[in-house]
Amino acid sequence: MLFKRKQKNPQDDRPGLVVVNKPTSVVSEQFRTLRTNIQFSMIDDTLKTIVVTSAEPNAGKSTVSANLAATFSSQEKRVLLVDADLRKPTIHKIFKVRNKDGLTTLLTNRDTQLDEVVYGTQKEGLFILTSGAIPPNPAELLGSKRMLEIIKEMEDYFDLIIFDMPPILAVTDAQVMASKVDGTLFVIPKGSTKQDLILKSKDLLEKVNANVLGAVLNRVNKSDEEYYYYYGE
Ligand SMILES: Nc1ncnc2c1ncn2[C@@H]1O[C@H](COP(=O)(O)OP(=O)(O)OP(=O)(O)O)[C@@H](O)[C@H]1O
Ligand SMILES: [Mg+2]
Repeated sequence: MLFKRKQKNPQDDRPGLVVVNKPTSVVSEQFRTLRTNIQFSMIDDTLKTIVVTSAEPNAGKSTVSANLAATFSSQEKRVLLVDADLRKPTIHKIFKVRNKDGLTTLLTNRDTQLDEVVYGTQKEGLFILTSGAIPPNPAELLGSKRMLEIIKEMEDYFDLIIFDMPPILAVTDAQVMASKVDGTLFVIPKGSTKQDLILKSKDLLEKVNANVLGAVLNRVNKSDEEYYYYYGE
């Protein structure tokens, strides 16, 4: 497959994609550290599919997903970022592409091929799949056999697939997907998430035997250069 569909009019003023816009910044360096830590945490197993979720909304999941996908991608490594937040999709906004077709098109229309809906981006090796139309039954679609087939097909064409999800406490979507993938990353906005909510989320992930890779602490400060991420078990 050639994945000819291209992100049009790529602009450099996208605030969400700091690792592409400011590769030498502190934040970009922290994403490279996060990449290394993820690689180390799965030293013996292959890690091809990752879910990114959080306890509550607005933790920074989509921002972390997009920047992590861009950090992993390279000439040799093809990474697909999938907007699996079928309730409040944002990946098309970060990359400024149309969201008429995407994951839900693949889920509901068997004739659609991956290369008809996946976008190439200006970053080498980075591909994106937007959500597509918002469906009435996201959890059901993500839990379907068809979703498993789609993940398998993605694995044939990409080295790493990162799924941006809704928060885990609100709806079952992230839990459903965490049970299907190799690893789950949990985003915590520093200082704002209550411990009981984190424990509740951990329980939900353990219930489906999710392989939790660790937590990303996302700290929002005033200046771009100051915001930063940590990683830990
Ligand atoms: N480290 C950060 N520093 C500054 N701004 C940030 C940071 N992380 C996220 N943001 C901003 O906070 C807002 C929410 O981030 P994002 O959309 O990534 O969160 P989310 O967890 O995906 O939210 P949702 O639950 O709605 O899907 C966005 O406007 C994003 O640009
Ligand atoms: Mg989001």
